[in-house]
Amino acid sequence: MNIEKIREDFPILHKKVRGKPIIYFDNSCVTLKPQQVIDAIVSYYMEYTACHGRSLHAFATKTTEKYDEAHEKVAKLIHAEHGEIVFTKNATEAINIVANGISFKKGDKILTTTLEHNSNLIPWFKLQKEKGAIHEFVDVNTDGTFNMEAFENKIDSHTKLVSFVFTSNVTGTTIPAKEIAKIAHDYGALVLLDAAQTVPHRPVDVKQIDCDFLVFSGHKMCGPSGTGALYGKRHLLEEMNQFIVGGETVAKVTHDDWVPAEIPAKFEAGLQNYAGAIGFGAAADYLMHIGLDNIHEYEKTLAKHLFSGLQEIDGLNAYGPLDPEKQGPVVACSIKGISAHDIAIILDETANIFLRSGMHCAHYFHQNVIHETEGTLRPSLYFYNTEEEIDTFISTLSEIVKTFGK
Ligand SMILES: Cc1ncc(COP(=O)(O)O)c(C=O)c1O
Repeated sequence: MNIEKIREDFPILHKKVRGKPIIYFDNSCVTLKPQQVIDAIVSYYMEYTACHGRSLHAFATKTTEKYDEAHEKVAKLIHAEHGEIVFTKNATEAINIVANGISFKKGDKILTTTLEHNSNLIPWFKLQKEKGAIHEFVDVNTDGTFNMEAFENKIDSHTKLVSFVFTSNVTGTTIPAKEIAKIAHDYGALVLLDAAQTVPHRPVDVKQIDCDFLVFSGHKMCGPSGTGALYGKRHLLEEMNQFIVGGETVAKVTHDDWVPAEIPAKFEAGLQNYAGAIGFGAAADYLMHIGLDNIHEYEKTLAKHLFSGLQEIDGLNAYGPLDPEKQGPVVACSIKGISAHDIAIILDETANIFLRSGMHCAHYFHQNVIHETEGTLRPSLYFYNTEEEIDTFISTLSEIVKTFGK
């Protein structure tokens, strides 16, 4: 991989803030966008603005073609088939479509881990409150790695759904998804994978894993914000109830009823974010062009460099196995005596190093597993980051810890 050449694709990486270059380490939240994605979005607005599947003029025909093509590109990225990808506005919406689409009954059990993003927790809490379904936690180890024994002890014949974070946005750890899916299916349970932090970073093959649902976001994989996808096995999407209904979601309307449209329109209610969707497709193309294997391998070298730098800082506590084979280039850290928010502000103001501090929407894990109730500092890297950037980050952080740490 030629990183210098890749960095040329990202105009924002060359922007100066306060007269100095920037280091962008907030990729688990939102990634930067290459020119190819920006061009795809702009061309929709500049060349053929219209809506999908309705009008018959040239702009509308082109929008329909490009929007359908975007679904195919995103499907190809995860080895899904035609009719198995629904566009959403983010991963959260995709999970809510499943939570509201499956007919859960009182007593049906839903398992999540203790490491979930709130997006894969609150919809199940809500279901528990409203439908009497039962949500249970599967404990992860404190370093964020999956605990197979805890899972096998929790799953039983009442388990209707196993909904796990595929790769954590806090500890960068990835679960053995294929093995988990096999066990879940043996108990008759469905499997949903929250792959918001997986699809951007490594090859994902839904057929090989044999998951039933998989969700991810466009904005964490070089695509525009307000884009995401739900993968579902076709027969499951066909059986599922619609969550939001109205325009686009119907094939036929009678006196007081309707026949749902084909997938994906069945779940894509109202006029869509066409520019975003087309940009999402361009992002999928961009990643496939670089190669997810190449991205994964390069990120291991970044992770190794980051972990060894962090381990040299006295008084810094870094969560995760800190092994590049087990953890992507994202680490939650805490430093005795200084709040993560203060460090994030100092890094921003003194060195243009942008990263995130707080709970990272994983409140349960912070509060109940690692007991970091004030939150953690989280550098999260992507394939356009470099070892030189890591060196600058480590030396700046070391200085901050020396000056303010206890
Ligand atoms: C692991 C994980 N799941 C879900 C989400 C929610 O994604 P979205 O903002 O696309 O709904 C995030 C976002 O940070 C995440 O990291």
